[in-house]
Amino acid sequence: MTALYDEFKKYSGADLYPCHMPGHKRRAFGAMSEEYASIDFTEVDSLDDLHDPEGIILESEKNAARILGADASYFLVNGSTAGILASVSACVKKGGKLLLVRGSHKSVYNAVYLRDIRPAYIFTEGPDEDGIYGAANAAEVEKALGENPDAEAVLIVSPTYEGRMSDIAPIAEAVHKHGIPLIVDEAHGAHLSFTDECASDAIRCGADVVIQSIHKTLPAPTQTAVLSVKGELADREEIRRFLAIYQSSSPSYPLMSMIDGCISYMAENGAKSVQNLHDNFEKLLKRLEVCDKLICGPKIDDLRSGRADYGKLIISARNTCITGKEIADILRDRYRIETEMAAPGFVLAMFTVCDEDFGYDKMADALIDLNTRLEKYGLLAEDGEKPVDPGEKLPAPVIKISVADALDSNVETVDLSDAAGRIAASYICLYPPGTPLVVPGEEITSAHTAYIDRCIKAGFNIKGLEGIGIKTVKNG
Ligand SMILES: Cc1ncc(COP(=O)(O)O)c(C=O)c1O
Repeated sequence: MTALYDEFKKYSGADLYPCHMPGHKRRAFGAMSEEYASIDFTEVDSLDDLHDPEGIILESEKNAARILGADASYFLVNGSTAGILASVSACVKKGGKLLLVRGSHKSVYNAVYLRDIRPAYIFTEGPDEDGIYGAANAAEVEKALGENPDAEAVLIVSPTYEGRMSDIAPIAEAVHKHGIPLIVDEAHGAHLSFTDECASDAIRCGADVVIQSIHKTLPAPTQTAVLSVKGELADREEIRRFLAIYQSSSPSYPLMSMIDGCISYMAENGAKSVQNLHDNFEKLLKRLEVCDKLICGPKIDDLRSGRADYGKLIISARNTCITGKEIADILRDRYRIETEMAAPGFVLAMFTVCDEDFGYDKMADALIDLNTRLEKYGLLAEDGEKPVDPGEKLPAPVIKISVADALDSNVETVDLSDAAGRIAASYICLYPPGTPLVVPGEEITSAHTAYIDRCIKAGFNIKGLEGIGIKTVKNG
């Protein structure tokens, strides 16, 4: 069933001349296809309104909620970013406290800034020897809840960008003991809603608000996502109100129709296609077991036990004297494979329900070949020193002032060598993966400056610097 698309086509075939926006008047110009133009509308009477749905859009959202096991679902045309901004804003009062994992996406930090929220962190395991952090577990969440009884909501990420998964049910139970909602950033896990096995998606495991980027792992275009709510701990009217603030006032009808179409397609075909993903991904990992130098993960045991996500292939740089970025460059230049992300310690390559055998074979052939060439090219670890240890731990953050106060303060840019002891006025991240080393309002220590200095010398991309200067709070 692709109800929205069918309705939109019906409307566009009717004999109504469009004396309204959009300006293309449903005619194709430039890069726009005729098909796209024909269903790109504005909120005229019978087409409903995403921000106040009463007709066909409401019906489609209800259909999505039924399929996803939620009490209510909301279509997002500005990605999970908009859903995260809205959920945090709806669940935590202005100036209130949010418990969040340190490795949260920047949209969470942006919500913290916009609503002057006080962040308190859940620290997850890691980084491991490749530089990857674990997903939150119940013990870490319980500890953070115990230390922050005034928290109004908890936000975790599962699966993480690198495919680490939380066991959501015990986390939800721990959070609910405090009578507050659990928000799960499941941007990377939309496919989890369609497995045949027992539920592994957050909404079915007890989370209250779940945000899924369907564009990341399902057949759907960029920017499409869904926010789902279960139970009464999150205020649905507030979520709808904030979505109208953070999303465009001219939401895209083609995107809405493709969200509806993707969810309906997955309802019909999802179990089979997710099973194919599982089978093909395990087969790929088994083929890669011959790689004795270029270690690839995750472990099949971790996949089967739900600790790691199917589809996120990690190619470790640990036995080499080169970085993940250089491995990614070799994969692109020599083997014609573009990967998702390259960090100093690893490369992340993604497979989804839409990959065909060809893609898996191409990756396996490339990595097996590269594994045999590492020694010949002198790229093994004993041939060179790594300038930065991806597993290096930085000190726990010391919060001096709020994120909002720091970002809105008078700023002074100081040399990296003079920054220790100052208060940061920008996010400083090793990008990718983008987890902040320092958040605005936190003290910059000499351990931070030494680490950043080593990263710069190794040619890594550190975001948030001004040349080799750091923005700090003036007189802070
Ligand atoms: C963990 C996580 N959450 C949220 C987002 C935002 O998703 P979107 O691109 O759909 O806005 C991303 C984007 O990469 C992400 O990695």
